[in-house]
Amino acid sequence: MGEKVFEHTLLETKKVNKIFGAGKKAVHAVRDVDFRMHEGEIISLVGQSGSGKTTLSKILLGLLKETSGKIEYKGVPRNLRSQKARLAYWQNIQAIFQDPFSTFNQFFRVEKILNDCLNLQGLGYLPLVEKQDKMRNACQFVNLKYEELYNKYPFELSGGQMQRLMIARIFMMKPKVLIADEPTSMIDACSRSTILDMLMELRNENRMTILFITHDLGLAYYISDTIYIMESGQIVEQGSAEDVILHPQSAYTKQLVTDVPKLREEWVLD
Ligand SMILES: Nc1ncnc2c1ncn2[C@@H]1O[C@H](COP(=O)(O)OP(=O)(O)OP(=O)(O)O)[C@@H](O)[C@H]1O
Ligand SMILES: [Mg+2]
Repeated sequence: MGEKVFEHTLLETKKVNKIFGAGKKAVHAVRDVDFRMHEGEIISLVGQSGSGKTTLSKILLGLLKETSGKIEYKGVPRNLRSQKARLAYWQNIQAIFQDPFSTFNQFFRVEKILNDCLNLQGLGYLPLVEKQDKMRNACQFVNLKYEELYNKYPFELSGGQMQRLMIARIFMMKPKVLIADEPTSMIDACSRSTILDMLMELRNENRMTILFITHDLGLAYYISDTIYIMESGQIVEQGSAEDVILHPQSAYTKQLVTDVPKLREEWVLD
């Protein structure tokens, strides 16, 4: 893999906190998180269930409001106050969620879901044939047949088809940053590697920056440049994938690494 040097910071959090609720029931889901994504970098965020990974990713996306802290995009404090500003932000930052049902409006047909990507990019004015061409292309990229699906609702698709449809959207949107929250958890190992291949292809074509959120330390080691380890809302370790896996510093990371005994041998590919 070799260590790469990343220069341009895209998205950065400074001492970000998220507290759900108040009083005795308050949950401090994200604690003082400093996190940085560079252009072209692949980052994995690893931690056990409930450690705050999805909460952090929703804050990055602007779907949840942080309780305190700063978030900067390209070195400038992020502004999501107007709908226009939010739409502009979401042209750059897109996500694939754990649960594809939560990604799609269940009342929209596939055709509308894809067409909305074009609208979001300001391509709503294109003639219908051209739009259909683009939608067909995106489906082809993820091995879906547009003709068979355009008229269907999300609940009429299989889990794998929905995952592919999410990637078709990314193909159309070409965001600078993609946040993928356990994108492969619903599908079998074979489609899993196909989907990872698709994401990597998109990344290479568009120099996309990707944040993978996963429980799978082996996968994280295999695909990422940088790994962040999260425990109880805090980042307890961060560094190059090699450093974090081969020379873990925190007790928690050491535990995670020993829980996957064959990790080091299996994933050393060079
Ligand atoms: N909307 C919410 N209201 C109250 N508490 C919440 C809310 N969303 C998350 N939490 C709590 O915040 C903590 C972090 O949850 P989060 O979903 O970020 O964990 P996670 O690391 O993504 O877990 P998993 O690996 O299971 O997806 C948990 O204790 C969770 O119960
Ligand atoms: Mg989660």
